[in-house]
Amino acid sequence: MLADRDRIFTNLYGLQDPGLAAAIKRGAWDGTKAILERGQDAIIDEMKKSGLRGRGGAGFPTGLKWSFMPKEVKERPHYLVVNADESEPGTCKDRDIMRHDPHTLVEGCLIASFAMRAHACYIYVRGEFIREREALQRAVDEAYAANLIGKNNVNGWDFDLYVHHGAGAYICGEETALLESLEGKKGQPRLKPPFPANVGLYGCPTTVNNVESIAVAPTILRRGAEWFSGIGRPNNAGTKVFCISGHVNKPCNVEEEMGIPLRELIEKHCGGVRGGWDNLLAVIPGGASVPLIPKSICDDVLMDFDSLKAVQTGLGTAAVIVMDKSTDVVKAIQRLAYFYKHESCGQCTPCREGTGWMWRVMTRMVKGDARVGEIDLLHEVSKEIEGHTICALGDAAAWPIQGLIRHFRPEIERRIAARASLREAAE
Ligand SMILES: Cc1cc2nc3c(=O)[nH]c(=O)nc-3n(C[C@H](O)[C@H](O)[C@H](O)COP(=O)(O)O)c2cc1C
Ligand code: SF4
Repeated sequence: MLADRDRIFTNLYGLQDPGLAAAIKRGAWDGTKAILERGQDAIIDEMKKSGLRGRGGAGFPTGLKWSFMPKEVKERPHYLVVNADESEPGTCKDRDIMRHDPHTLVEGCLIASFAMRAHACYIYVRGEFIREREALQRAVDEAYAANLIGKNNVNGWDFDLYVHHGAGAYICGEETALLESLEGKKGQPRLKPPFPANVGLYGCPTTVNNVESIAVAPTILRRGAEWFSGIGRPNNAGTKVFCISGHVNKPCNVEEEMGIPLRELIEKHCGGVRGGWDNLLAVIPGGASVPLIPKSICDDVLMDFDSLKAVQTGLGTAAVIVMDKSTDVVKAIQRLAYFYKHESCGQCTPCREGTGWMWRVMTRMVKGDARVGEIDLLHEVSKEIEGHTICALGDAAAWPIQGLIRHFRPEIERRIAARASLREAAE
């Protein structure tokens, strides 16, 4: 269990004042100038050594991503863009960082922008997050007023920070759709390459990072890479904010050690599964996009990138959706299929047509109104979507259905058989 002294987000629950003076007392903005004086290369090296992997879902190493930015600023300016779109069902960590601990993010934006030689940063906030946007803007205004950011600021790197809001489309969380939207266009993912580090916002070198990835950077640089990499396991380092929802007694967000056993996470922080551990049916461990795992796997799986990958799911955004035995698991996945159909931007045929097709088949399967052979067909179609689209929304739509078939095929078959016998009885 993570010791209190190792917590980065010391006001995650908003029990204290989120304002600048209180944030400084909690340790924010301490020695920021000295961090910048270490220089760009030293900061990026330290971030690489810390082992931080991106907290937006894919787990790409943050220091390495920063190192992809050009080493010199030529005719095109560099940008940092922070992804605060947070629309993955079950995920609600970035909103609490913005509401309650916004200075961790504002300071992180300055340091990360400096490391990547950017003088401007945009934070793209999910459209529905109105209060979060206001809280964040207050923190940005405070930082400007205290001359921590802006032109000729006390930290020695001219820097402007803009809070921008989206209009509530899940796809605008995909980094290149986000850039399109920020440019004022329809939020549709771009073909890659070129990658944003070469051609990003307004055609300029850009890095897109998740809120949590940026907000943890100042503490990592203050306390050192070894401190951060010493928490968790190799390749799965540090602390992580988990969002636990669904059938637990006390749903919550909690910052914990990466690699904490799933059962310990639920029992220590959420008062256990409703009705006790044996009443557990399944868990979606990383936000709606990752495959569910049944109780037998939940019993001893660790909550980190590699452990979850080994059981054919993923850490994703670390949004843990708990389902007890009262759950209609086929209906739950059918509802997610509807979400992906609704949020597909429609650019690629496999995603545009496939998400609707899968949703329609899943809708029949909820009632058992299908043939057993259609289970394999559904699986095959999901495989044709996965990996064949411009962005990962196609994969995200396919994986929950694949997880259901992998672990709950007998339940789908049972419904089909029950429906068939009802039909026979009626004839
Ligand atoms: C459909 C879709 C939605 C996404 N939504 C988000 C989001 O809301 N927030 C986020 O940080 N990353 C989201 N991502 C991942 C981003 O594309 C990107 O990988 C991430 O912002 C990189 O940040 P990181 O390296 O700090 O993890 C989404 C990806 C896809 C395919
Ligand atoms: S995979 Fe889906 S959401 Fe992504 S670009 Fe293609 S159609 Fe759009």
